[in-house]
Amino acid sequence: MRIVLVGPPGAGKGTQAAYLAKNLAIPHISTGDLFRANISQGTDLGKKAKAFMDAGELVPDEVTIGMARDRMNQPDATGGFLLDGFPRNVSQAEALDEALKEDGVTLDAVLDLEVPEEEVVKRIAGRRICRNDSSHVFHVSYSAPKQEGVCDVCGGELYQRDDDSEATVRKRLEVYHTQTEPIIDYYKAQDLVVTIPALGKVEEVTERAMAALQGGK
Ligand code: AP5
Ligand code: ZN
Repeated sequence: MRIVLVGPPGAGKGTQAAYLAKNLAIPHISTGDLFRANISQGTDLGKKAKAFMDAGELVPDEVTIGMARDRMNQPDATGGFLLDGFPRNVSQAEALDEALKEDGVTLDAVLDLEVPEEEVVKRIAGRRICRNDSSHVFHVSYSAPKQEGVCDVCGGELYQRDDDSEATVRKRLEVYHTQTEPIIDYYKAQDLVVTIPALGKVEEVTERAMAALQGGK
């Protein structure tokens, strides 16, 4: 399957992607995670992306589209993938369509995670991520690790993202509304969008998403 996950910052895209990718046996491709890996490795691409990310702005398309395309061309993604955080504006959606067309494949569904704004702010403020593996995501009150600051899965150190400060989160939300939300209409025109109410327990949201995918979308 080829799936796109959309939703505001903190909607739970990364959290859901980890479960959905496992259930569907497809790779989870997160452009945010790819940028953060490049930043921690000190690559040129990471250096280009960091200032935009810290400001809550989108990284320019000429950097992002090539990086996403390279990842989708890896052997593990030939049979399908779950995109998280890409595309993030209409020109990225058009570039993705073009790439899929070249490969002779199509998207199966676009899952739109719907969460009220006051909830995403709470989710982001309490989020803690493992330094060893970005799929190990916790929340200080909703899914607290057994020991503060320590990953339950691998014992790694938990940290708070640089762009999770209140001011940057507000900027990211504004960018989401102005630049990313238009892709929902773009994909509605292709009859691909399934809206998933994303309040409630993580497992409940995963069940809704799986049911929507198995329901033919
Ligand atoms: P990116 O990393 O994609 O961040 P984002 O879209 O802002 O999304 P988040 O990672 O903040 O949230 P999420 O929805 O994954 O939520 P999570 O599962 O962690 O992008 C970061 C930056 O990179 C961008 O600002 C931009 O600069 C750049 N970038 C990336 N892609 C780009 C692109 N294509 N083009 C240009 N620039 C790009 O959950 C949040 C918290 O809530 C966690 O603590 C979790 O435990 C908790 N939680 C999750 N689900 C639930 C639940 N059901 N109940 C209670 N708590 C929950
Ligand atoms: Zn870990």
